Amino acid sequence: MMSDRMLIRGGKPLSGSVKAQGAKNAALPVMAASLLLKGRRLTLERVPDLQDIHTMANLLRHLGAEIEFSRGRMTIDVPDDLKWETPSDLVRRMRASSLVLGPLVARCGRAILPLPGGCAIGSRPIDFHLKALARMGAEIDLEQGSVHARTDGLSAAKIYFDFPSVGATENILMTAALTPGETTIENAAREPEIVNLACALRAMGASIKGEGTETIEVEGVGDLGAAEVTIIPDRIEASTYLLAGVITRGEVTIDAVIPEHLEALTSKLGKAGAPVDVSRDSVSVKCRGLSWSGVTIKTLPYPGFPTDMQPQIMAALCLAEGTSVIHESVFDSRYMHVGDFKRMGCKIDIQGNTVVITGVSQIAGAEVHASDLRAGAALILLGLAAEGETIVCSLKHVWRGYENLMEKLTSLGADIELLPDTLDEAGLSG
Ligand code: EPZ
Repeated sequence: MMSDRMLIRGGKPLSGSVKAQGAKNAALPVMAASLLLKGRRLTLERVPDLQDIHTMANLLRHLGAEIEFSRGRMTIDVPDDLKWETPSDLVRRMRASSLVLGPLVARCGRAILPLPGGCAIGSRPIDFHLKALARMGAEIDLEQGSVHARTDGLSAAKIYFDFPSVGATENILMTAALTPGETTIENAAREPEIVNLACALRAMGASIKGEGTETIEVEGVGDLGAAEVTIIPDRIEASTYLLAGVITRGEVTIDAVIPEHLEALTSKLGKAGAPVDVSRDSVSVKCRGLSWSGVTIKTLPYPGFPTDMQPQIMAALCLAEGTSVIHESVFDSRYMHVGDFKRMGCKIDIQGNTVVITGVSQIAGAEVHASDLRAGAALILLGLAAEGETIVCSLKHVWRGYENLMEKLTSLGADIELLPDTLDEAGLSG
């Protein structure tokens, strides 16, 4: 069990290079897509070794799949007959569990899924998923906090999303792949993880056009076959390490990435005066002895600035010269981290879904708590830049999304160590 607390001795410029992990948010939907197979194997390469990946693997095992996973390679053998009731303890642990809903309805005609809870970044309903499945012919009932979906046969439909939801686009893309006829998804999400999923489905024999644009067309097929799929690099993990280089005024290179996936961040860093070098498959920041200026950021669906980088860019802008404004337009409450930022001396004023940041020249270490995955990463960035010692607690959120975090940061020169859990965190207090 990984420790829940990290001690950071800040103030040291990071330098060196690290390799990006496989993308968590690409691997999770591709794993769920394996349920569309009947008595066949899906093989995935470059799967990151993360808690969320193991949660999804255990969910698929519960449904009947056999899974082997080591050194980035995962094989998923899907039986002829699947269970279609999902276990509450696994589903409540990870919202992405909702990605098995569409495949189960398409494959088994039934599914029971406990409604995933909200989390620190918002209420996170799945109404878009349910409305779209209903349009395709699924009967959806909510009973005792669970979604009961059933159908005697789905039919192709024209789906329009009020918001380009990543998860809803993924759920319907997978469902449509096995639904006879042509399904069109309008106002679809355009994230690279959607494109990776579409490539995986196409490798399995699906007929898909338009992924990565706002309109995706799927011609359903009767059966899908075995395939080997490589997961794309994790653009959010990669961007987090780049900002570690910026915030510590160091020189950091992230290798094995697709630079265009990081463009929203790298173009903002350029505007802020942080020098960025881009090569075919790596991106570097060279900030030794430099300062950067405040900028204005609005988080948007891809290709806009990613909401999953909002806490991390906020951390860097707290140490910029001048004022910055961030508007969070994707989630309804993604500012839980601001309180802990202020404990370290950051100057942030929340006005609804907008924050105004006044850059300061120095922040001080403190004991802080991660409220969610990306907030935890952002607090680590602040700790790396702060004078003195920072203890980041509730690291369980961070282990969900950052593979080999301690090794990677240490290789860049960070002075960090894991602390034994306190008695109460270890549940040993009297
Ligand atoms: C995916 O979540 C990612 N998770 C999130 O990353 C990411 O923040 C998010 O997309 C936005 O980019 C995975 O891919 C596993 P959405 P998802 O559906 O699919 C509202 C991380 O850090 N909405 O695009 O849940 C929703 O409340 C995680 O790795 C509805 O109202 O995001 C939110 O405000 C955090 N009804 C907005 O849409 C719905 O049915 C975007 O949500 C679905 C969504």
